Amino acid sequence: MYRSNTCGELRLSDSGKEVTLAGWVQRVRKMGGMTFVDLRDRYGITQLVFNEADDAALCEAANKLGREYCIQVVGKVSERQSKNPKMETGDIEILVSTLNVLSDSQTPPFKIEDDTDGGDDIRMKYRYLDLRRPAVRSNLELRHRMTILIRNFLDSQNFIEVETPILIGSTPEGARDFVVPSRMNPGQFYALPQSPQTLKQLLMVAGFDRYFQIAKCFRDEDLRADRQPEFTQIDCEMSFVDQEDVIELFEEMARHLFREVRGVELPKLEQMPWHEAMRRFGSDKPDLRFGMEFVELMDVLKGTGTFSVFDEAEYIGGICVPGCADYSRKQLNELTDFVKRPQIGAKGLVYIKYNTDGTVKSSIDKFYTEEQLIKVKEAAGAKDGDLLLILSGDNANKTRTQLCTLRLEMGDRLGLRDKNVFKCLWIVDFPLFEWSDEEQRLMSTHHPFTMPNPDDLPLLDTHPEKVRAKAYDFVCNGIEVGGGSLRIHDTKLQEKMFEVLGFTPERAQAQFGFLMNAFKYGAPPHAGLAFGLDRFVSIMAGLDSIRDCIAFPKNNSGRDVMLDAPSAIDVKQLDELQIKVDLKE
Ligand code: AMO
Repeated sequence: MYRSNTCGELRLSDSGKEVTLAGWVQRVRKMGGMTFVDLRDRYGITQLVFNEADDAALCEAANKLGREYCIQVVGKVSERQSKNPKMETGDIEILVSTLNVLSDSQTPPFKIEDDTDGGDDIRMKYRYLDLRRPAVRSNLELRHRMTILIRNFLDSQNFIEVETPILIGSTPEGARDFVVPSRMNPGQFYALPQSPQTLKQLLMVAGFDRYFQIAKCFRDEDLRADRQPEFTQIDCEMSFVDQEDVIELFEEMARHLFREVRGVELPKLEQMPWHEAMRRFGSDKPDLRFGMEFVELMDVLKGTGTFSVFDEAEYIGGICVPGCADYSRKQLNELTDFVKRPQIGAKGLVYIKYNTDGTVKSSIDKFYTEEQLIKVKEAAGAKDGDLLLILSGDNANKTRTQLCTLRLEMGDRLGLRDKNVFKCLWIVDFPLFEWSDEEQRLMSTHHPFTMPNPDDLPLLDTHPEKVRAKAYDFVCNGIEVGGGSLRIHDTKLQEKMFEVLGFTPERAQAQFGFLMNAFKYGAPPHAGLAFGLDRFVSIMAGLDSIRDCIAFPKNNSGRDVMLDAPSAIDVKQLDELQIKVDLKE
């Protein structure tokens, strides 16, 4: 028996018991004739004591222990003289009688403690050591717990878990595919699934009715704090349902998770149309933890003939920042620099301070009278003491996106984005298509299998950009945690969609023939949704990046620095695949 107990388990009531523990040496402290060792395992830390007076050789062996040695000890549980209320096991210690070094350890490259001295890169290179740190480990424990809760919830609702293949064909779904060459089919490639979308729809045709999968997905896209090239979806699909059925069921699942994990009771969630979200927050994933909703100021600021920037603008909008009229020139300059950063791209920032003494001071005093600025105050619903920040531009949606970034920045600066507060909502009525500058054509906002809103079907030919989708996103604290839609199950309508998307019938057949053929055999009406598990866990744990809840994540360049992947492969392997690498500059 390697151990009788774990390092997080023993209490005062265990005093006098002889126990065997195994774990890693966190710290060794020598005090006079006594040596104290903190022994750590997954469950906690227990203090070991070696007394020179009792056994000099044993104490000497303890003094030789280094950090992260893996050891086993036998000893007696005893009440501590000086208790440590911060530790769960802080009332006891183990008077060790036998020490067995199971593995020694080199000095670790960083401190294996929550407050570590290791930078990001070094911790990723030695991720197995990083994972010994309680803070990182607890994220994975939470992930496990949420996975179990989700499986049990979906099982209780008659969903069955089905695995779909990882080696599939390439289907363009927004991002780029990761591809895998096939040795047995020279010159041909599998693609890794961006999501099991088409396969789960085929499972509905197959009659499975309610499917789910904790599914690995792969997308070759630029990485951000909430994006990894390989991530996990809680992927679900249901037959014989409409949009409200899906929303209701998954809202209940989210409610169950928040209740069980965070003790938070979610209210009935708002369903906000996409257009409204864009107008009020400049985002299809608004953070509702704080106000500062957009105010449109075209009526009061445009067309005075005094300020050409506003006169020429397509959109003028602002946010009213409560109690910040006393912002200094330095702070305002900082905000101006912030919105002018290339990632945001605004040309400048206009401010109006409505001071507490009733006076007004702005960066457009030269162009507008005080009376006009008071009108703006009324239009914006500003109060004395508020700071109105205004952006304008010739593209309304682009300017709104910039204003959204500024709003979130102000939310951060004022501490309004509390990680222990959860504001969730559904965004509905997405546009079915969006224009792609890169492709110079309409693209699906979600994917080509999304059902158009039946009321908008006549617009498919005339104004496809105005067609709304039967699609819905689950948003929490400004993050898109999940998304789904009603699917087209009618071959004719699906063919029409491909036509609007600019596919020739041949190309549609070549890429999606398998699905359209399947729909010829009695396809049930169906709908589904996928939550991003990594994002869900990181919101619950209050993490800044989804990397922190993934055991072995990739860095921002898509590299696994521990495995040193991706890497070049052997010429022999390339030969077998009949592939030649011809790197361009
Ligand atoms: P979608 O593309 O919206 O929908 O993805 C669903 C959810 O997956 C998560 N997600 C990601 N998480 C981490 N890294 C990424 N690169 C990443 N990309 C997406 C998000 C997102 O909300 N097949 C559809 C779902 C459906 O219609 O049923 C789909 O994949 O949390």
